Amino acid sequence: MKDKFYITTPLYYVNASAHIGHSYTNIAADSIARFMRSVKGQENVWFLTGTDEHGQKIERSAREAGLEPKEFTDKVVMTFKELWKILNISNNDFIRTTEPRHITTVRNVLNILYKKNDIYKQNYEGWYCTPCETFWSDSQIEDNLCPDCKRKLERISENNYFFRMSGYQDWLVEYIERDPLFIRPEIRRNEILSFLKLNKLSDLCISRPKERLNWGIELPFSKDHVTYVWFDALINYISAVGFFDDKGRYVSKWWPADLQLIGKDILRHHCVYWPIMLKALNLQMPKTIFAHGWWMINKDKMSKSKGNVVSPVDMVNKFGVDSYRYFLLRDVPFGMDGNFSIDSLIKRINSDLANDLGNLLHRTVTMVEKYFSGKMPTKEVTFDENTMFIKEKGESFKGSINKIISCESDYNFSFALESIWELINIANKHVEQTKPWNLLKEEKITELENFILIMKYCIDHVVEALVPFMPETCAEIIKQISADVITKEKPLFPRLEIK
Ligand code: MSP
Repeated sequence: MKDKFYITTPLYYVNASAHIGHSYTNIAADSIARFMRSVKGQENVWFLTGTDEHGQKIERSAREAGLEPKEFTDKVVMTFKELWKILNISNNDFIRTTEPRHITTVRNVLNILYKKNDIYKQNYEGWYCTPCETFWSDSQIEDNLCPDCKRKLERISENNYFFRMSGYQDWLVEYIERDPLFIRPEIRRNEILSFLKLNKLSDLCISRPKERLNWGIELPFSKDHVTYVWFDALINYISAVGFFDDKGRYVSKWWPADLQLIGKDILRHHCVYWPIMLKALNLQMPKTIFAHGWWMINKDKMSKSKGNVVSPVDMVNKFGVDSYRYFLLRDVPFGMDGNFSIDSLIKRINSDLANDLGNLLHRTVTMVEKYFSGKMPTKEVTFDENTMFIKEKGESFKGSINKIISCESDYNFSFALESIWELINIANKHVEQTKPWNLLKEEKITELENFILIMKYCIDHVVEALVPFMPETCAEIIKQISADVITKEKPLFPRLEIK
């Protein structure tokens, strides 16, 4: 399909409810999807998110809740779906790894790779981290602790199936080196390249014996094993948008993905395992895998196990959905880590939203009500030599945001929003410079009308650019500014006290 845009998010584990870190990826993906729909047309964008439901972690959480895994995941999935609604996430599809369409594709992939001899059986003896569901060799560990999560490892010996990743290492290095847009931002690309250059890849163990784990997709060639949860989950990106036909050919309108958004915690799975799986299947690579940074609380990563999670629903209830979306996208350049605090959220709301954006709308509708009995003048706006720069700013605006919200610029939301705020500030300054109250006193009605039309011009351009990031606010601004009889309403963003 020409000029399409397929964007994906990670599939979230359903062992606990979502925190602001999870919501961040989906808000970013949503903003890009909405932006691309405005550029490429509604029908040409496909935005996928979903849930990762198999594996030990989830099985254990289900048992703790006294439920069967499927019952448990059905319940938690509802809370994710509800959250995406609250956050105005405009995903086109939501895939669960427990759905038949996914299970069928995973089994097809396993069969294809098994027949190609890219999957083989072997006894495995070594260390295993249950919470991370990862194997480690003697040389990788110290003090019997998991190198990632620092928890105690178990010694195991069992028959398993392995995916021949090692054979694809040189190909992968070359691929990443050839395409600078494949892994973004640059710091993550370098991280993966140096990992691949310093380490020899081992083959990936892609099965778990059923005696240890039952909650997974059964291997089509062994009744005694289920599929490793990561091997299962990564396949969602193709199982959601296509299928393998009788001849084993993958048919899809959307693949390859144009942008796969992830957090930097799952870089290796997406930039090593996943490309190699695709290569082995003879499928195209995604155009870009972009890893964003972490939201931290007092310099610690937010996570359930650390007990420092902030609930996005609480934030939305207290501050409103668009204030929350705005803060996450504006406060930290995309790709970097950020520190989450209520104080900095409130500061942003008071300065950027209440003082700048809210004020712009509020003073404009107030003036239309007061000077023109609520009727927006219907003339064409004109610009003279003193205001021509406003027209030029408005016109150049779209192009500059198009450049910023692109792979080449690492989807720098923060920068895009900053440039939208330049026009907001220009408009607010225009009020102080023009002093419309004097125009009224001097009965310069034509000038007063044109002044209001310039304000309207700025608001229209701001809304057009801002809508992917703050959809609800923009709908409200349009409603107020284009009413038949415009009246001053409650401020969009009341100022808040920092406690
Ligand atoms: N299920 C796997 C992904 C499989 S994708 C085929 C998984 N799930 S997760 O729920 O643990 O995390 C998914 C994603 O949530 C992370 O990659 C990241 O995008 C986001 N975040 C989780 N914690 C985060 C922060 N503290 N900060 C920012 N984003 C984080 O891994």
